[in-house]
Amino acid sequence: MRDRWSSTTLFIFAAVGSAVGLGNIWRFPYLAGKYGGGSFLIPYLICLIVIGIPLLLMEFAIGQKLQKGAIDAFKTVNHRLRGIGFASIFSGFVVVVYYAAVMAWTIVYLVQSFSPQLPWAGQAKDYFFGNVLQLSDGIGAIGGINWVVFAGLAVAWILIYFSVWKGVKSAEKVVAITMPLPMILLVILFFRAITLEGALTGILAYITPNFSALLDTQIWIDAASQIFFTLSLAFGIMIAYASYNEKEDIRKTGYVTALSNSLISIFSGFVVFAVLGYMATQTGALVSDLSTSGPGLAFVVFPEALSLMPWANFFAVLFFLTLLSLGIDSAFSLVEAVNTTIFDRSNGTSKSVIAFLVCFVAFLLGILFTTNAGLYFLDVIDHYVVNTGLILVGLLQVLAIGWIYGADKLRAYINATSKGRLGKWWTYSIKYVIPIILTVLLFIQIKTDIMVPYEGYPMWAQALGAATVLVPLVVVAVLALVPVDTKAKL
Ligand code: TRP
Repeated sequence: MRDRWSSTTLFIFAAVGSAVGLGNIWRFPYLAGKYGGGSFLIPYLICLIVIGIPLLLMEFAIGQKLQKGAIDAFKTVNHRLRGIGFASIFSGFVVVVYYAAVMAWTIVYLVQSFSPQLPWAGQAKDYFFGNVLQLSDGIGAIGGINWVVFAGLAVAWILIYFSVWKGVKSAEKVVAITMPLPMILLVILFFRAITLEGALTGILAYITPNFSALLDTQIWIDAASQIFFTLSLAFGIMIAYASYNEKEDIRKTGYVTALSNSLISIFSGFVVFAVLGYMATQTGALVSDLSTSGPGLAFVVFPEALSLMPWANFFAVLFFLTLLSLGIDSAFSLVEAVNTTIFDRSNGTSKSVIAFLVCFVAFLLGILFTTNAGLYFLDVIDHYVVNTGLILVGLLQVLAIGWIYGADKLRAYINATSKGRLGKWWTYSIKYVIPIILTVLLFIQIKTDIMVPYEGYPMWAQALGAATVLVPLVVVAVLALVPVDTKAKL
């Protein structure tokens, strides 16, 4: 018997829990900052409507209709397409391996937040790179394992494991807490942030649009790939989650999930920029300089700002707890997607055993990110797997469903489950609009990466990043050529 969510609400909680994660509070604000605030919101919202929502409805529909995880779902569409399911799961697995490392840093900070005096006060940047990461000079200098981060990683994986060890039944108990809790904490942080001195300067930077930034093609690639990342699309996650439904209203649950996720991103953007405004006032810097600090934003700017606040310890604990609980339900959603796929194809191996193996392997691979060069590896792999890998897998998915399965057939199914009606526009976007946009973005990104090696990392590091895209691509191609052997599973 297939596992089932106990209620519609729990399904929505789980889907929103997967979508809302470090992507909303760390990745989204740092991208917004990279383009000077307001300008990022426009392409972000356009990509949400044009790409994100139609694709989320597609993944929900395919999972629920076929009652299968990603690999078997695509195999049902056509046995030569099963590699697409594999590619989704593979990309998700790569992401969760480094995502857990970010959770490990969060755990280190959470523990440190209990020290009577926040240890990073007055030196947030040095503390992050020097004390926490013990970062080396370059990606070639791997150094050794940083045991504090290593311990954080182990704790992260233990938390993730116990969230999914019994499959859906344990996952839904965990999301019942980890979905609402960070929302409440975020609201508290929001009121704290907007009442800080100088908050308004930051907020203005966040919401003032700059239309000329829209001419930069990179902003569109960043917005589109952020939409994939934040909605957990092209990872096989939403397909697996929806496969545990019997007959939910796909249109409604899809809209609720997509909209709540983006509202939370936009909301946490207010928190981040209000804090940036405060920091700018305290330190005499410009909001625009602070906000362009890249992926370090959440771990440099926030700790710094927290240490400047009254009740520093209290708010530090609150903040890192928020980050951690946001991360957990995203991380375990991927483990659950891998689990589903393996479980569907094994003859009754228990889910807790599969979950253990998945978590353990991911933990071992994650050790790379606990070395002294961990952040560099994380940066280069994140770049390739998110900016190229996700867009590529998304493109393959949408072509397979739109043209081979039949977008109209799936739309008819969506309409059969839904009270409202999903119009013909959806078919057009799945068949034409999204494939064209994704092809163009993919082409531009690949061209850029070939012309300018990402962040100047050495060729072997570029190759490692590119491998996270090429390996699944080769599997897609090979499996497309090899017809299914009825006895073999893959
Ligand atoms: N949606 C999550 C977020 O915004 C990130 C995410 C997507 C993720 N897919 C994942 C995390 C797979 C871990 C594994 O944070």
